[in-house]
Formats: sequence, structure tokens, C-alpha cells
Amino acid sequence: MQTVLVTGGAGFIGANFVLKARLEQYAHVVNLDKLTYASNLLSLAELQGDSGYNFVQGDIGDSAFVANLLEKYQPDAVINFAAESHVDRSILSPENFIDTNVVGTFQLLEASKHYWQKLSAQKQQQFRFLHVSTDEVYGSLSPSDPAFREDTPYAPNSPYAASKAASDHFVRAYHHTYGLPTLTTNCSNNYGPRQFPEKLIPLMILNALEGKQLPIYGDGQNVRDWLYVTDHCEAIHLVLQKGRVGETYNIGGLNEQTNLMVIEKICTILDKLLLPQLAINIQVGYIPHLNAFCLRSFIYI
Ligand SMILES: NC(=O)c1ccc[n+]([C@@H]2O[C@H](COP(=O)([O-])OP(=O)(O)OC[C@H]3O[C@@H](n4cnc5c(N)ncnc54)[C@H](O)[C@@H]3O)[C@@H](O)[C@H]2O)c1
Repeated sequence: MQTVLVTGGAGFIGANFVLKARLEQYAHVVNLDKLTYASNLLSLAELQGDSGYNFVQGDIGDSAFVANLLEKYQPDAVINFAAESHVDRSILSPENFIDTNVVGTFQLLEASKHYWQKLSAQKQQQFRFLHVSTDEVYGSLSPSDPAFREDTPYAPNSPYAASKAASDHFVRAYHHTYGLPTLTTNCSNNYGPRQFPEKLIPLMILNALEGKQLPIYGDGQNVRDWLYVTDHCEAIHLVLQKGRVGETYNIGGLNEQTNLMVIEKICTILDKLLLPQLAINIQVGYIPHLNAFCLRSFIYI
């Protein structure tokens, strides 16, 4: 596999994937991204001047635009990271989630199907459409529940999860109906560099550093599995190389924690890193502000 079209490659997981893909795995990476609030092209600054990398601003929902792109670059695979991805925003305003996650994925599938149907028999066999999805399609876990499996029934609980579930069903249908060689991955919560600071871990770190309260949903006992983002990218690469077409693959970190455990850990790490500095500040009579990492100022919402 030489050329891959990555969508949403200026977002958190997409950017980590593009960097890894370009530096270690593929000869040519084309990154199609609409550049919503969640994107950050600075994440990809180190690819500036790289002749094996192209960035194109555009919408996965614009199938004529995507068709031209496929024609121009002739990718061996399409890897779809593009999405509206924040649960809270989906509760306030679900429409964008339907537009991008459902209709956008459908249009991307349509454009990919037309492109794939015109390839030679050998290229058709090699082509892959990999759809990156979430384990939130399976619902939520309480501390005593077993981990999700690929055959766990779908039970999406938020408009975000429902929109991703719908997109997964379209991907499955395009394989069964048209034979498009699809793969779907359902991963757990990612953490690591280049994440937009509305998500749990960066939000808690920044709030703590600024002395703000740390918002916790419910009683903080909701369990999520946590996966390091570059491990996720490595798993996607593996599924792309070795996955059986039409299959779905769950990707997790075998690292289940309640939200409260994650936040306590962040506070402990910040205490360790920053308390010595605070002590020096106190010694020299300079206290910029009392930080929340000392106070553990949780607010339950
Ligand atoms: N972050 C996680 O913990 C997590 C967990 C499970 C699954 N996922 C899934 O992984 C994928 C990537 O997640 P992320 O955290 O990197 O998301 P993100 O919100 O950080 O980035 C999404 C990217 O998609 C782009 N985009 C949005 N709409 C677009 C459109 N219509 N056309 C083209 N580009 C568009 C944005 O500009 C942004 O760069 C998503 O499909 C998400 O559902 C994420």
C-alpha cells in the first residue's frame, strides 16, 4: 500500500496517524480535512515541505470534490477519521453530527464506491475503506461489567454515539451490498499529544493549572477504557494490513478506569511535578495563584 487518503487528519487521532503513517509507513499521504474548530494544522508542522504529503481543505460530504480527489491521487486506501467527536456538543447541537458523521460518511462511501468500481480487478482487491469508529456505539459500562466485544449489541446513548452507530451500519451495508472492501474499527477513549482541550484529560490538566474547578459527570464512577493514541494508530495500520474485509475490530488499551480514578491520577502527577515549584515560589514570596491541583476542587455536574 503506497498512497492513502486520510480524512480528518488535522484532528487529534488523525494527525497522530498522518505523522506516523508518513514517517514510518506509507509513501504518500493525502489529508482531507474541513478544518473545523477541532483541527490544528500546527500538529502537522513537521511535514512542511514533505513531497510525500498533501493537505487538502474540504468536506467529506462533498462527494464531487472527494471524487476528484480520488481520481487525482489514486489512493490504495481511504481511512476515515473525519467526524464531529465531542459528546457534549452533540447534546447541545446534534445536527452537525448527523451532517458529518452520517451524511458525510455516506457521501464518502458513495465516492469511494464509484472510484473502486473503476479500478482494475487487482487494484479492486487491494483497495480498503477503513472507517474509524468508537466503542460508545455499545453504550456505557459500570464497574462490574465485562469489556465490550465485537458482537456486543449496539446501544448508543448520546447523539454522538448514535451518529457513529449509523455510520458503522452504512459501512457494513456498503460491503454487503456492493462488495466495497471495508474495515471498521471501534476504539475506546484515546489520550496523548495533540488533543483539543475540551476532552477530559487535557481539560482537567488545564483547569488544574489555572486553578479552576474540575468538572466531573455524575458521581465520577462511569468506566471507560483508555488507549494511548499512537498505540491506536499502530492498531489501525495492522487492521489495514491484515484485517479481513467486512469485519469490525475493537481496539482497546485493556486499561479500564472510572473517570474519578483518571482525574485523581492527573492531580497526583501534577502535585508531583508542580509542588516543588510552588514551594520555591512561596520561599521567594511569590505565589501567582493557588492551583487546583493542591485543592482538588471537584465539581459534580
Ligand atoms: N478521541 C477519542 O477518544 C475517540 C474515541 C473513539 C473514537 N474516536 C473516533 O476517531 C475519529 C477521530 O477522532 P478525533 O478525536 O481525532 O476527532 P477530532 O474532533 O479531534 O478531529 C476530527 C477532525 O475531522 C475534521 N472534520 C470534521 N468534519 C469534517 C468534514 N465534514 N469533512 C472533513 N473533515 C472534517 C475536523 O476538522 C477535525 O480535524 C472520529 O471518527 C471519532 O469518532 C475518537
